[in-house]
Amino acid sequence: MPDLDILRPHYTSDNLTSLQSHILSEEQQHPGATGDFTWILSAIALAAKTIGNKVRRARIEDVLGDHGDINVQGEKQQKLDVIANEIIMRCLGDRANIAILASEEDEHPVVLRDRAEGGRYCILFDPLDGSSNIDFGVGVGTIFTVFRNERRNESRGLFENDRRQAHDVPHYLQPGFRQAAAGYILYGSSTIFVLTTGNGVDMFVLDQSIGSFVLVERHLKIPKSNKTYSVNEAYVDTFPEGYQKYLNWAHQNGYSSRYIGSMVADVHRMLLKGGVFMYPPTKTHPGGKLRLMYEANPMAMIIEQAGGKALADGQRILDKRPTDLHERTTVLMGSAEEVDHVMEHVHFDDVK
Ligand code: AHG
Ligand code: MN
Ligand code: MN
Repeated sequence: MPDLDILRPHYTSDNLTSLQSHILSEEQQHPGATGDFTWILSAIALAAKTIGNKVRRARIEDVLGDHGDINVQGEKQQKLDVIANEIIMRCLGDRANIAILASEEDEHPVVLRDRAEGGRYCILFDPLDGSSNIDFGVGVGTIFTVFRNERRNESRGLFENDRRQAHDVPHYLQPGFRQAAAGYILYGSSTIFVLTTGNGVDMFVLDQSIGSFVLVERHLKIPKSNKTYSVNEAYVDTFPEGYQKYLNWAHQNGYSSRYIGSMVADVHRMLLKGGVFMYPPTKTHPGGKLRLMYEANPMAMIIEQAGGKALADGQRILDKRPTDLHERTTVLMGSAEEVDHVMEHVHFDDVK
């Protein structure tokens, strides 16, 4: 039996915590928790591992390029968009506590069961974000959000401006502040799972040698400032004037620009290093390009939980009242001070 003292100097205080055990310990802090959440997040983790494997083998398995269809977004579907979508549906479809699965790739949500049959959660997701980058090995990801399946007429305190709509607005179209959980998986140089259940932001990395996501950061906080902005400057001439003024100010104040074109990769860099990410109104997308329900909302919850700000035309993204599953929004999010610098230049009455 080795002498424990010899081992002791090598022992660190950092426990080896898997995503599974982390979620279980979080659930135990919620009285009356049923383990439902763990059940759903373990399915998402399984999907993430499977999609990550497909992404890494895409060129070998010749699943790059266009699928040949145009999706509900009016965009060319990539083969991996369809594959990732099917993987998530297969991993989540057998979870008996899911009511609705709504995907960027499908016009309508898949209704699995209603509340009376045990459908307690609605899962909305972007199965593959940044898919225009997939053929070149650039970071792409999956974004997801979880709502409780609460019909408005069952919940106390109807949303003030939905009172008149309560009977006709599906119960997965809830404002972002009601998200029960949100997260993304980045398939980059490593496979990184970032998650919030409303109690801070935690980060996991897939340890391929054991096939588990292991906890590497708890309660991530976005740096208060960083002189980096992330925007597609190709569209700058069609941005509202305030955004152009901000960019001129940034150029004169020593800012650098980083733009990958995959929201997951751009937001993840910003979460760790600080800075600001934005998708302003453009000529082709006057209301913004990014989708509220499964891109902007989950990222906004993560950024706010990490101490940052997340706005759309001056309004808090999480307060927006959705009316359509695929509605788009402008996005301005990141370090609080950096968002403020943009807001000093953009006056939202001139954006409308
Ligand atoms: P998706 O691949 O899911 O359609 O998302 C692409 C989005 C987002 O990832 C990225 O920030 C944005 O499109 C990039 O848009 P531009 O190419 O217009 O800059
Ligand atoms: Mn996307
Ligand atoms: Mn996508």
